[in-house]
Amino acid sequence: MSSRTRLSFDVKLNKLGETINIQISDPSGLQADNLALATWGSSEVLANVLHRLPVDFSNTGVLQHVLGVLELGAGTGLVGLSAACIWRTNATLTDLPPLLPAIDANIALNKDLLSRHDALATLGMLDWSQPECIESGSSSGTVLKEGGHGDSIMNVKRMRARVIVAADTVYSEEHPELLVNAVKARLDSKPEARLIMCYPLRIGYLDHIRDLWERLEDAGLVCIQEGREEIDDSWDEDTPYEWCVWRWQAVGERPQSGT
Ligand SMILES: C[S@@+](CC[C@H](N)C(=O)[O-])C[C@H]1O[C@@H](n2cnc3c(N)ncnc32)[C@H](O)[C@@H]1O
Repeated sequence: MSSRTRLSFDVKLNKLGETINIQISDPSGLQADNLALATWGSSEVLANVLHRLPVDFSNTGVLQHVLGVLELGAGTGLVGLSAACIWRTNATLTDLPPLLPAIDANIALNKDLLSRHDALATLGMLDWSQPECIESGSSSGTVLKEGGHGDSIMNVKRMRARVIVAADTVYSEEHPELLVNAVKARLDSKPEARLIMCYPLRIGYLDHIRDLWERLEDAGLVCIQEGREEIDDSWDEDTPYEWCVWRWQAVGERPQSGT
């Protein structure tokens, strides 16, 4: 079995070396974007970096109308599920319609794990070309309805998020502009808000990544932390992965140089 279709992932929970095991439903029958639905290396790298990143979820939640975590282009949802457990918060996992049944199945598969970590995962359809609206799906078998009631029901339609995560979402020339528009529409305006991304440094994608960085800086974001990781041998590839953390620039702050 290739690593991309692996059905469970151990993810670092904290600096003590504890891990959580995220279950992924068998995606072999599903296709999206002409690719077999899979978990990509960026997701495993980013999921394992999250526990090292300081985040502040104060004043987030249903009553504050601010999501904890929003995942863009979630795929199988490994990063969003990990983020919810590691940071003990709510995460909304979004993607295009063909991907939603698999994400929903993965939320359901990890329901007990989520609950043990005081975490909540919900499903949404968010197309980066129309980021103003998240169409609610179901989560853990619960139908999400605007104005509905229940523990796991959130009206996420127009909420911004304290943290946006996105793994392996920059692989065509349209993606930088679309993603930056989605971030502008969805990232909380507070100084504590963070955009956290990870992507493979494949030669063919470097121009898109440079374009992404320029557009993020033009949008008023500044990169405050970045790193590179190698993925383990089981992935059978030697591409390095880069992750980066962004926040809104403070007034009068000059952007740092990019990649
Ligand atoms: C290479 S996959 C990465 C999936 C997952 N983040 C991972 O790393 O395993 C890219 C994801 O972005 C999603 N995507 C592509 N274009 C999109 C768009 N316009 N709006 C929302 N999602 C999009 C795809 O459906 C796919 O799930």
